[in-house]
Amino acid sequence: MKEFTEVQIKTLEEIILHRRDVRGNRFLDKKVPQDVLDKIVYAGVNAPSVGFSQPWEFVLIDDQEVKKKVKASFDKENKKGGNQFEGEKADKYKQLKLEGIIEAPINMAVFYKPSNSPTLGQTTIEEAGVYSVVCAIQNMWLMARALNVGLGWVSIIDPNKVKKILNAPDDRQLIGYLCLGYVDKFYDNPELERLNWEKRKDTSDVVKFNGY
Ligand SMILES: Cc1cc2nc3c(=O)[nH]c(=O)nc-3n(C[C@H](O)[C@H](O)[C@H](O)COP(=O)(O)O)c2cc1C
Repeated sequence: MKEFTEVQIKTLEEIILHRRDVRGNRFLDKKVPQDVLDKIVYAGVNAPSVGFSQPWEFVLIDDQEVKKKVKASFDKENKKGGNQFEGEKADKYKQLKLEGIIEAPINMAVFYKPSNSPTLGQTTIEEAGVYSVVCAIQNMWLMARALNVGLGWVSIIDPNKVKKILNAPDDRQLIGYLCLGYVDKFYDNPELERLNWEKRKDTSDVVKFNGY
């Protein structure tokens, strides 16, 4: 049985605490070597999955023309998103940089591929398949951080438009659109906290014992 040392445990804690969502204003125009990308994807495919179904597919994108099409979907959805806020929040929203599609040298679309036969463990909670893909994304986010590669998750895009842009088969579901690349800096705390958009909740407010 493998046991981890105090130093390794501390390292994992540091990676978790220093993982950040990275937007376009931080990405550098510096190629991410293939072996680094391979390590990130390897972390993804080693995530847990319901019934060991591994229902994920990863589309790596470095073509500027493809990125521009995805960015156009972001621009449209971001405008609609911003309109849902009022007053001071609406003004603040406009100042936020919420993606790095063009600036990041690599984009990655992560898809859920549903199975056409029953999957062990997924027979009651259908969403467990999608949760598995989210586990893969989190694994990649942490591995990217360990490799000093920034990753930003963009969800303000029309998933069906992105599917079309990438020629994804009909049954696939877009789970995450990620922007990856080296950065000029990683912040110590979330950008949305630094910009006074949201505060971190107290752990004691979200943990209950033996029920609510
Ligand atoms: C499912 C998901 C979707 C997200 N979508 C976006 C997004 O569209 N744009 C963005 O700027 N950040 C997005 N984020 C990043 C969050 O804003 C970020 O994780 C949060 O503010 C905490 O910051 P941190 O990741 O640096 O700790 C997303 C994060 C998750 C988990």
